[in-house]
This record gives sequence, C-alpha cells and structure tokens, in this order.
Amino acid sequence: MPEAGYYNNSKKTDDICEDVCGEQASKAALSMSRLRCALRGFDFRALLILFIGVPLLILFIYVHGQKITYFLRPLWESPPKPFTVIPHYYHENVSMENLCRLHGWGIRENPRRVFDAVLFSNELDILEIRWNELSPYVSEFVLLESNSTFTGLVKPLYFAKNRRQFEFAESRLTYGTIGGRFVKGENPFVEESYQRVALDQLIRIAGITDDDLLIMSDVDEIPSGHTIDLLRWCDDIPDKIHLQLRNYLYSFEFYLDDRSWRASVHKYRAGRTRYAHFRQTDDLLADSGWHCSFCFRRISDFVFKMKAYSHVDRVRFAYFLNPSRIQDVICRGADLFDMLPEEYTFQEIIAKLGPIPRTFSAVRLPGHLLKNVERFRYLLPGNCRRESG
Ligand SMILES: *[C@@H]1O[C@H](CO)[C@@H](O)[C@H](O)[C@H]1NC(C)=O
Ligand SMILES: *[C@@H]1O[C@H](CO)[C@@H](O)[C@H](O)[C@H]1NC(C)=O
Repeated sequence: MPEAGYYNNSKKTDDICEDVCGEQASKAALSMSRLRCALRGFDFRALLILFIGVPLLILFIYVHGQKITYFLRPLWESPPKPFTVIPHYYHENVSMENLCRLHGWGIRENPRRVFDAVLFSNELDILEIRWNELSPYVSEFVLLESNSTFTGLVKPLYFAKNRRQFEFAESRLTYGTIGGRFVKGENPFVEESYQRVALDQLIRIAGITDDDLLIMSDVDEIPSGHTIDLLRWCDDIPDKIHLQLRNYLYSFEFYLDDRSWRASVHKYRAGRTRYAHFRQTDDLLADSGWHCSFCFRRISDFVFKMKAYSHVDRVRFAYFLNPSRIQDVICRGADLFDMLPEEYTFQEIIAKLGPIPRTFSAVRLPGHLLKNVERFRYLLPGNCRRESG
C-alpha cells in the first residue's frame, strides 16, 4: 500500500535523525532539536554551494554561454563539405595564354565584360581600394545602397554624399537606392535578402548579358585584379567559381587565415543567375584576393557596424560598444564580440584561441593602398590607433 510505504519512510528518517542526534529529546524540545538535526545533517559547504556557487554558475553561463556553445560546436555540428580548391598560378611576366594553359583553360580572342556588383553600407575607403584594384578589368560598376541597415536602423546614403571621391568610376557606374522597410524586430537576414533581390534588378538595368562575368561579393571582399583578368580572358572556366580570399581583421596587420570563400564569380545566365552570398558551387580558386573585415578608419564606424550588421545579436552587452574598449580590442587583435573562433574541430578552435598574431608584411596588398599610404595608413601594420570621432 503506498500510504503505508510513505509512512514507513518518514518513520525511517526520524530514526536515522535520532541516531545522529543521540538520545530521545523531550516533547517540548522536539521541534527545536529536529531543526538542529536537519542543519547538522546538511553540510555547511553544501549550503555555500547552493547559495553562492549556483548563482555564480548561472552568471558564468549567462556571460560565457555563447563561448560554451561555440566550444562545443564540434559535437553538434559537422563541418560543411570541403571545397575543391583549384590551384591558382600567377606571375606578372607570364603571358595570359600561358596562365590560362596552366589552369587547363584556353584563351579567348576578347576578354569577357565584367560587372562588379555590391550592396553598400558605409565602407567608403574599402570601396575606393576595391574599385581601383578592379578598375582596369571592370566594364560596369553596380552599387546599391539603402537608407536602412540590415538591422532596420536609418542610415544616411553615404555613397551619394561622397560620390565625388569616385569620379574615376563615374562613367561606368550604375547606382541605385532603395528605401528600407523598417520592420521592427525582424531577422536582419530578411532585409539583407530583400536588398539582394533589388540588386539583381539593378544588375539587369546596368545591361548585363549572357556570358558576361558577374562578381558577387561584399564590398570588403576584394578580388585581386589579376584574378579577374585571368577569369575574363580564359575560356572554359567554371560557370560559377568561389574565390578564396585572405582573411584580415581590422587592417592588414591582423592576418587570420585563408578561409574566406563567400565571394564568387559567375558567367551570367539571364533568368538563372541570382545575386547571393552563400555557397553556390564546390569550386574555389585559391589565393584570389583579400577580405578585410571591420577595417574602419574611425571608432564610430566600428560602433555603427556592430549595430548594423546581420549578427547584431552578438552585441550581448552594452559595454561592447564602449570606444576605449573597442580601441583596446583592435590593438590587441582580439575579438570585438568576445567570441570563440567559429571552427568545426576542437583542434582548430584551440589553435585559434586568443588574439590574432601581428603580421609585419605589407607585401602583395592592393596597389591603391600602397600608392596612397598617407590616406590609408591605419590599414597598414603598426598603425592600430584609430580616429576617435
Ligand atoms: C618582366 O618583364 C619586363 C619586360 O619584359 C622586365 O623589364 C622585368 O624585369 C620583368 N620582371 C620580372 C620580375 O621578371
Ligand atoms: C528611405 O527611403 C525611401 C525611398 O527613398 C523614403 O520614402 C523614406 O522616407 C526613407 N526613409 C527614411 C527614414 O529616411
């Protein structure tokens, strides 16, 4: 019978307690001694753990929860299918015919036309470096900007305001603007894909036709000029090919790895080609340029970007936006969001823990950067201090 069983059990506890507490107490003192008994039964350290340790643990998980899940990522997520990396050959004194042949491709009589299309936010300097790098090979620059960030904040039309800085591209520029939708609390990726669809239309307005090359990449993913020259001159290149770029953070002082792959080049097909920033094929052309993330001149640009970009959820605490903290993080090569490396194996996570080591090499960087060192000094090794305005 359950009732009897329950009664028996509580009887048993009392017995044990009496054993621990010694002889039978008087009826009046019974409740008192029960309490003392209960306290004695409890280890004081257990109480300490309960009232101090547990809240501390909860606080620790609250502050570092993201780190814990990222560290355990190899357990719950397997790495994506690896790319087929295509070896990339280049030397300035090897003829284009020989370069194409080295890749197993033939050479064309005329180069293809090249369209470079970007969604623009506020990265004016990086855009200037990008367009100068690509200028000799691009037929049409296509740029779309919105008065909304991906996170739905109002932003000025920075390109429109600074258009004079890009006079050299004006005759080949198709520029468009789009009004933000300003939907509160929406996933930033929705506004981002809305803007990419609009960019598709703008590319058609720019006059692209079948077999023209279309570069799909963020502004800060800069293909090297010779890579685009190769792809426009060679026949038999893949219809779609991703570009492997060297990943830098904050400037060309902090070289992270060569794992950037989102940029891609497409042989345009009307009705088929869609502007996208995700993986579209397995082919990846090695060593094809630079990806400079968070490479900004002013601390205020960092704050803007942290609030504006699609991973705004990574700003978990308001002090992440504190200017002196940001300056300190930049100079150490540490992580702005205090996150662990996004890797798929424990070995790689551990190898990348801590700040990015400095590089002292400014060899093989975009030409326009080195030709204008006074203006772009903050992007070069040894210049991590930023303008505070
Ligand atoms: C490349 O060729 C030019 C002229 O053909 C020559 O002046 C130059 O020294 C060569 N450069 C290298 C790195 O071999
Ligand atoms: C954004 O741009 C659209 C289209 O140009 C305009 O109608 C709208 O008023 C703008 N919104 C803000 C907040 O500036």
